[in-house]
Amino acid sequence: MVGKKILILDENTASRSFLSNTLREKQFSVIEASSGKDALIAAWRDGTDLVLFDPVLTDLKEEEFIAKLRNNPRTKKVPLVALSSDPGPTRREVCINAGVDEYIVKSSQALSSLEEILTRIFNTQMPTERERVGQEPGLLIVFLSAKGGTGTSSLCANIAMNIKQGQPDARVVVADLVLPIGSISQIVGYEGNLNIVTVADLPGGQTSGDYFYKNLPRPELWQFQLLAGSPDPQRGNAINGDRLGRIIETLRSTYDFVILDLGRSLSRISLPLIQQADLISLIVSTDYSTVKLTKTVYNYLQSQGIENQKIYTILNRTIGLEGATKAEAETIIGLPIKTTMPYLSGNFSLANNLNQPIATKYPMDSASITLKNLAVDMVKSSRLIRASSTA
Ligand SMILES: Nc1ncnc2c1ncn2[C@@H]1O[C@H](COP(=O)(O)OP(=O)(O)O)[C@@H](O)[C@H]1O
Ligand SMILES: [Mg+2]
Repeated sequence: MVGKKILILDENTASRSFLSNTLREKQFSVIEASSGKDALIAAWRDGTDLVLFDPVLTDLKEEEFIAKLRNNPRTKKVPLVALSSDPGPTRREVCINAGVDEYIVKSSQALSSLEEILTRIFNTQMPTERERVGQEPGLLIVFLSAKGGTGTSSLCANIAMNIKQGQPDARVVVADLVLPIGSISQIVGYEGNLNIVTVADLPGGQTSGDYFYKNLPRPELWQFQLLAGSPDPQRGNAINGDRLGRIIETLRSTYDFVILDLGRSLSRISLPLIQQADLISLIVSTDYSTVKLTKTVYNYLQSQGIENQKIYTILNRTIGLEGATKAEAETIIGLPIKTTMPYLSGNFSLANNLNQPIATKYPMDSASITLKNLAVDMVKSSRLIRASSTA
């Protein structure tokens, strides 16, 4: 990325010079503009490899600024990154709809997000779907439980985050398929409108791998990209379910890891996905009713021809020290338990409510270590299973 030219537009002088100094230190060549109009002139006259701008402008509306760049042949394809002083969701949506590639809110994490985005834009050319043809589909890991409240969604998001953290170069997407209402967007703090329901309504030709890679949000701190779940039961029940199989297939042709939250659903929609999965993470809490129901789910999975080696059982101590021990749970269900997730009392909900991964909020907690090890072991297991099934 050395020598790439970045045009910085920020009306705030201090903010602008801070950014330009930071980027110059990283060997970018930088041009500065202090108004929307100056930026347009500079972009068209001098050319630029990327525009980094604060969309809060006084001389132009942000959508006008973006549209002008997008409609001009000289800047049509130039990546546009908004670094916004407005934390609200509305401006983000306006900008995304108008055609920006990335939208970051100014915060203490903004610089590291920006760095990640610049690396991605300049160093790693995303191969097109066509180029990926002939490549193996991404590993499919599904999260499943017999009952609600066992921590399936929280573990799904946190393990996915650790998978991406462990291999920053891998493309990781999480899709929330829990119907009729999803919850991962609440855990990671995504408030936009792009979700499984809206995507399933788009014409098939539009939902290419590129579309997902470009448009799916990358929630701050979580590192993976998210295909959010249904925002409410009404829309969830009206979902165009026939499209889901194809959407997941597209994700697998684009991402190295496709991680699905299926919650407690064993439906017409989820069953084929479970059957395709490389690894099925079965989340069990320690209360006896859940443990017994998990046995029923396991019997069902067996009846559907799912091999035992694909089932990765995690005992999650959501209710403290009460309930079944690991040995009891293993006896009742008839499956080995790979890991026990420690009880985190209110801390888990607190991290969720703050939209933070456990690894960020409690880096020194044993739970963070458990999650990290789980991520490593699950990746290893799914690779082994894939290798043995294709051998
Ligand atoms: N190990 C744990 N210790 C304490 N609380 C937990 C633990 N795992 C999950 N929780 C809490 O349990 C609740 C349900 O979690 P969630 O992920 O929504 O479950 P599910 O998706 O299975 O319905 C959340 O408030 C979450 O913070
Ligand atoms: Mg859930």
